[in-house]
Amino acid sequence: MKKSIFAPGVVKLFGEHAVVYGKPAIAAAIDKGVYIDCVSSDKLVVETVGITTGLRFFPLDRRVEAFGAEKFFAYVETALRLAQERWGDLAAKFTIRSDLPPSAGAATSAAVSVGILKAYALCAGADVGDEEVAKLGHKVELEVQGIASPMDTAAVTYGGVLKILTNPFRVEPLKIQLPPFYIVLLPRLGTTGEIVKDVRALLGKRKSATWVIEAIGKVVEEAEGCLRAGDLECLGELMDINNWLLGALGVVDGRVVDLLGMLKPFIYGGKISGAGRGGVVILIPKEGDVVSRILKGLGYPYYKVSVYPKGAGEV
Ligand code: PMV
Repeated sequence: MKKSIFAPGVVKLFGEHAVVYGKPAIAAAIDKGVYIDCVSSDKLVVETVGITTGLRFFPLDRRVEAFGAEKFFAYVETALRLAQERWGDLAAKFTIRSDLPPSAGAATSAAVSVGILKAYALCAGADVGDEEVAKLGHKVELEVQGIASPMDTAAVTYGGVLKILTNPFRVEPLKIQLPPFYIVLLPRLGTTGEIVKDVRALLGKRKSATWVIEAIGKVVEEAEGCLRAGDLECLGELMDINNWLLGALGVVDGRVVDLLGMLKPFIYGGKISGAGRGGVVILIPKEGDVVSRILKGLGYPYYKVSVYPKGAGEV
């Protein structure tokens, strides 16, 4: 019998980078993410639908090889190995579909990791708690990437809007909803690891930059109040402030500044989400139709998303 899991993507509403230095952050699961089906089969197989790969054809051998998705499959492979170690062998076919392109910065790698773990446990008939899935999902990201905060895998696992606290790491559900908003995907210049390293180098070199981290921490605390009050004007203004502060850390480039400047009359505010240098840009719309028309004209991929109130689970 077929079992299906939906694992939501994640955006960071506030506090990325500063969270690496012990400040709180606010993350939200969104209703675009990764779908994983699992059916029993005679052997373990993984099929993807619509995950972009290049194909190489060897006419003499009548053989086709896929390339360009090695990183994506590294998450799949590691999640399957950890699942097999935890829940035993499973002969099943997994089919993965994604609403969002991999490596765009919307936590699809965390969604794939957590989604595979959940689907495997479900098909193996095992009971698994959220805490364990979040931990195993984080382990997958750590093995594949070397460094990874537990923020994305926790948000995929628990869903909704979450306050992320560090030292020790924990999450606090904020139990709030937001009107639909937009995410725009800009080509990313650099990996999360590289960008985090550059910020660390700047902080090591220029003492003043540590005050930027402090300021981001203050923005997060104030933003929690705005979110709880459902005050979109305040939310947008604080997103703008957070974005300029991230700019001071060198992770917001001209494309983002231009985009936000152009859309300013039609949005409450916006910011990058994640490590930056492109990737996801969040926009809180005042006039959604206008925003949508402008984005269409610009040609960047964009999505209208809502907060997904649940974590990865059966659908
Ligand atoms: O770019 P992403 O989605 O991998 O997010 C990175 C978030 C940082 O705060 C910059 C790093 C981290 O580990 O929290």
